Amino acid sequence: MLHPVILSGGSGSRLWPLSRQNQPKQFLSLIGERSLYQETLRRAAALPGAQPPVTVCSEEHRFMVGEQLQGVGLANGGILLEPVARNTAPAIAIAALHLAARDPDAVMVVLPADHLIEDEAAFRAAIVHAIGLAEAGWLVTFGIEPDAPETGYGYIARGAPLGEDGFKVQRFVEKPDLATAQQYLADGGYSWNSGMFVFSAQRYLDELLAYAPAMFAAATAACERAKRDLDFIRVDKDAFASSPSDSIDYAVMEKTDRAAVVPVSCGWSDIGSWSSLWAASPRDADGNRHEGDVISIDTRDSLVRASDRRLVATIGVDGLVIVDTPDATLIARKDRVQDVKAIVDRLKAAG
Ligand code: GDD
Ligand code: MG
Repeated sequence: MLHPVILSGGSGSRLWPLSRQNQPKQFLSLIGERSLYQETLRRAAALPGAQPPVTVCSEEHRFMVGEQLQGVGLANGGILLEPVARNTAPAIAIAALHLAARDPDAVMVVLPADHLIEDEAAFRAAIVHAIGLAEAGWLVTFGIEPDAPETGYGYIARGAPLGEDGFKVQRFVEKPDLATAQQYLADGGYSWNSGMFVFSAQRYLDELLAYAPAMFAAATAACERAKRDLDFIRVDKDAFASSPSDSIDYAVMEKTDRAAVVPVSCGWSDIGSWSSLWAASPRDADGNRHEGDVISIDTRDSLVRASDRRLVATIGVDGLVIVDTPDATLIARKDRVQDVKAIVDRLKAAG
């Protein structure tokens, strides 16, 4: 059976000052009414044959997840709570163990909670293609046509075709440096990794055992001693904390020879920064995205977001991001917003 698994553990530090540790970006309503997490739940539930989605998140976000789940009114497949963050490979491992114990043929659709997808029919069609490959034992990724040498993504080199809908992955390279990303873009045969995955739970566990045995052992012990509390499933803290911390991309996808890629064009974007949010949002004729009480004169290609307490006015500016909140205001050039993370790091260091 098909089981959506939603990863909702990140903090979204590059969307400061809107996203905070206790209010990460996936729980914010950034574009529409619903949060990115709620949109992901809705998309997951609309997949043909999908079982109720499982969410994997941090212990400290459990109430927000519970509330937002109730808000969309969809069936809940359980909320797995991580006592500490160990990145995506262990988070997916506990979901795989949880599902494989109930359904030996479980196929997982792993979905990050912070993506935007414009063309849902294309997304669903790609997932359906991937399910066939996953049932044949492949770990399926989704390839996005790259249009810039982004260094925050994984890169996938396409190999031989696998039927009509996919390809074997010849090489998977997570977050290459800029020169390498430029080379890949010039070569042409590469896609970006979307960060969504489809595989059988058992196959993922087999690959984890082969390439990251310490992680496999820690996740297994953490699940063996898990405790259920209504919809929440708490894995054992000491066992989970003993796991190495790594992403699925480095721990499994770069190493396995069972990776496949299904190309997809579904208006995908990963809302990683203010500039990607600006790019994914509807804009006015001057290229501006305004939210809240904003007045602008001779302003171009800017994202201006007022808090509900204050009017924000701009004159003669170009390519800026201005985000006002009750206790912090960000003003940055749109091409520098990746560095917002440095502000968050500085705030953390200052305690
Ligand atoms: N439950 C849980 N626990 N979720 C986590 C954890 C964790 O410890 N760490 C991250 N996540 C969630 C994030 O909330 C996000 O939804 C997803 O897992 C991916 O994590 P990111 O930290 O956003 O990864 P990334 O953007 O740097 O890279 C991944 O996504 C890119 C596309 O957006 C990789 O898969 C890249 O290869 C890919 O190109
Ligand atoms: Mg991301």
